[in-house]
Amino acid sequence: MSEISGNTTRADGTGTPSVATPGPLRADVAVVGAGLTGVVTALLLADGGADVVVLDAGSARTTTTARSTGKLSVLQGTKLARLDRHGSEVVGDYLAAGFAGLGWLRRALEDLNVAVDNRDDLTVATTPDQITDIDAVAAACAHHDLAAQWEEHPPYPAPTYGAVRLPGQAQVDPLHMLSALRSRLRSRGVAVHDRARLKQVRRFRSGVALRTTRGTVLAEHVVLATGVPPGRLGGLFLRLEANRSLLTTWEVPDPDALPTGFADTMSITAGSPVRSLRMAHGLLMVGGEGYAVGREPAPAGRLAALDEWTRAHLPVGPTRHTWAAQDYSSDTGLPLVGPAVPGDDRVLVATGYDKWGLTTGAAAGLALAGRILGEPVPWGRTLEPWARSPEPDARAAVTFGEQTVGWACATTRPTGQRAGARRVSRVCPHLGGVVRWNEQEESWDCPVHGSRFAPDGALLEGPATKGLARR
Ligand SMILES: Cc1cc2nc3c(=O)[nH]c(=O)nc-3n(C[C@H](O)[C@H](O)[C@H](O)COP(=O)(O)OP(=O)(O)OC[C@H]3O[C@@H](n4cnc5c(N)ncnc54)[C@H](O)[C@@H]3O)c2cc1C
Ligand code: FES
Repeated sequence: MSEISGNTTRADGTGTPSVATPGPLRADVAVVGAGLTGVVTALLLADGGADVVVLDAGSARTTTTARSTGKLSVLQGTKLARLDRHGSEVVGDYLAAGFAGLGWLRRALEDLNVAVDNRDDLTVATTPDQITDIDAVAAACAHHDLAAQWEEHPPYPAPTYGAVRLPGQAQVDPLHMLSALRSRLRSRGVAVHDRARLKQVRRFRSGVALRTTRGTVLAEHVVLATGVPPGRLGGLFLRLEANRSLLTTWEVPDPDALPTGFADTMSITAGSPVRSLRMAHGLLMVGGEGYAVGREPAPAGRLAALDEWTRAHLPVGPTRHTWAAQDYSSDTGLPLVGPAVPGDDRVLVATGYDKWGLTTGAAAGLALAGRILGEPVPWGRTLEPWARSPEPDARAAVTFGEQTVGWACATTRPTGQRAGARRVSRVCPHLGGVVRWNEQEESWDCPVHGSRFAPDGALLEGPATKGLARR
């Protein structure tokens, strides 16, 4: 792999191109992760005159952004009701962040000629016990002056107990959106280095030194827009849970057989089983059956359940694509956007979007760029990782239990091997969790903090910074 070296190009195009100069690459800000969060942050920093470099371990297609459902909404299922325990001011700030992110994306995508389809967003009760949840959503919306309506008979393909509808939200092809924003970044002269994995962050007095698989980068600030931060930095991985969800697109041979008005909405159920639906270009997208990474004994069974539900309720033909994607939820339920370590702006993070990181990821970009450029956003403090005390919850006990059970099994079966692949250690190089084979995605998944590995042990995603040892 070629080394990244030389200086970056300034937003006004006056810097030295990123080739030929020996020694580490230098920049004002290194943004690690070119999903939506990283790209928005880098664009805003470049617009503000900062010298920025972007690094990514993969490509646009492998981001969670590209593999999301593509809903741009501030309603976000029952999120507003679940955040209510933090108080009205916090919910107000979270909403302000969502509106800021959504507004920024709408303007940027219009400028880039990326189609954004307006849709009403529905949170639907499909069981009697979910009625309380949507009542709480409706109350939160009313309290914050959102134009949401309670609807007794929503346009939904399965039996319901009512829904909350918020007009004026949107949907987008997320890969198209990300590719267009990346192109805009490049046209501003910002170098985006793909296949450059961050291995280590070292802080020194005036900044940070980043060791990557393609060389060293020196910067005043680093923004870790990588989902969970790599390694152990700030201990934030202890406050996050990694969750995967399944998605399938279906052909709909007879769209007239869909409930009237269904195609003009996007929807998600208020509780389990989660079903997230939307139509685009004549295809139906169905998501759901989420599970904590590495803790699901039969992911293929979950996909079968999702398919069975879809066939039972919707007039679908064959499937087009099936995939899974991973996102992180935090102990407080709020995104974690700000310093990884309290009071230290050299290393900034953005994570914990709880599967709502399109609007919130854009908001995180606004918050982080504003912070670095000295123009903080009014709602930024609420999203900071250390704005409120970490909340110990039942997940810590589950994590400990997983590690104990894993080790008990590992003493009898310390290595794993799959057809055609090398024998690998089953011990996760992050912090020693014992990985479990995921037969549906053909990967080794760590139940402790959610790192995932290919059959041959190569690192796919998560906080680990190297693959499983090969035996
Ligand atoms: C199934 C599913 C559906 C979803 N649907 C929606 C939706 O409809 N609406 C919504 O608002 N949100 C949705 N989300 C959530 C949303 O997609 C994510 O929260 C958001 O895309 C996260 O963006 P990001 O930029 O932080 O991360 P990503 O898009 O994952 O980008 C992170 C980047 O960091 C890179 N990286 C990671 N580690 C390293 C390293 N060590 N070195 C270098 N690079 C690294 C990765 O290669 C990747 O490119 C969904 C999530 C899931 C799982
Ligand atoms: S991801 Fe932390 S121990 Fe595996």
